Amino acid sequence: MRQIHPHEVADPDLVAAYAYPEAVWLRVNMVSSVDGGAWFKGVSAGLSGKGDRRIFAILRGMSDVILAGASTVRVEGYGPVEARESWRDLRAGRPPAPPIAVVTRRLDLDLGGPLFTAAEPYTRTIVFTTEQAPKERRDEAARHADVVVAGEDQVDLGRVVLELRARGLGRILCEGGPRLNAQLAAADLIDELCLTIGPQLIGGDAARILNGTATQRRLALAQVLQEDGYLFCRYVRESA
Ligand SMILES: NC(=O)c1ccc[n+]([C@@H]2O[C@H](COP(=O)([O-])OP(=O)(O)OC[C@H]3O[C@@H](n4cnc5c(N)ncnc54)[C@H](OP(=O)(O)O)[C@@H]3O)[C@@H](O)[C@H]2O)c1
Repeated sequence: MRQIHPHEVADPDLVAAYAYPEAVWLRVNMVSSVDGGAWFKGVSAGLSGKGDRRIFAILRGMSDVILAGASTVRVEGYGPVEARESWRDLRAGRPPAPPIAVVTRRLDLDLGGPLFTAAEPYTRTIVFTTEQAPKERRDEAARHADVVVAGEDQVDLGRVVLELRARGLGRILCEGGPRLNAQLAAADLIDELCLTIGPQLIGGDAARILNGTATQRRLALAQVLQEDGYLFCRYVRESA
């Protein structure tokens, strides 16, 4: 891998390259095709590559919590994050792996699946849901997860961020999907976007990495790495 912006570095230190600028920070990490698609055949795997998977894992290892929309959790088959030996230094003074926090209106999730039943105490899943989720689903989820009702019909994402920070989980890594990202951008909650652009055209009807409310936020291009035709860009909010 090579850094090509803001200056050339051969084989950059990825941990240093992706260090969180602040302990309270919301980073979104996404991969896209050159023509802007956020999934291929329904999932993101076909857009990714070796370098992207490496950065994906490092970003997970650096985070205090991973935030995802319910659709991403369902489609991508999310389970609890497993600790990696390579994260030992990265996570010194913190639990060995970050928990998953999922945003869901209806709580239509596999409550008997690993995300709920196989988490370690330190990766106990956090669920942000609404009054619209049936009471019995909320009660069932609460057997294995921390359930927070954070809205009547829609989860208030500002409340999500404050709640996570109150739990000491300030370094938030949002892994999408596009509908969650669009709301975070509209609420001006995104401090950084890590975007992998894979060297392929896919056409089709995949959403872009933000899908929903129109919004305009200026970002500054902080860093670009390159490997095998993939670009790994870091954009930060312009004032950051
Ligand atoms: N390219 C990438 O890097 C990348 C990353 C992630 C995902 N993806 C792809 O993106 C697709 C999924 O993304 P998506 O945009 O369709 O969905 P998404 O953002 O992952 O999830 C949308 C769902 O999240 C819940 N939700 C979101 N905001 C909410 C709010 N404010 N209040 C309550 N619930 C809320 C709702 O869940 P309920 O339906 O449970 O009520 C909603 O249906 C998949 O194809 C996945 O493979 C790609």
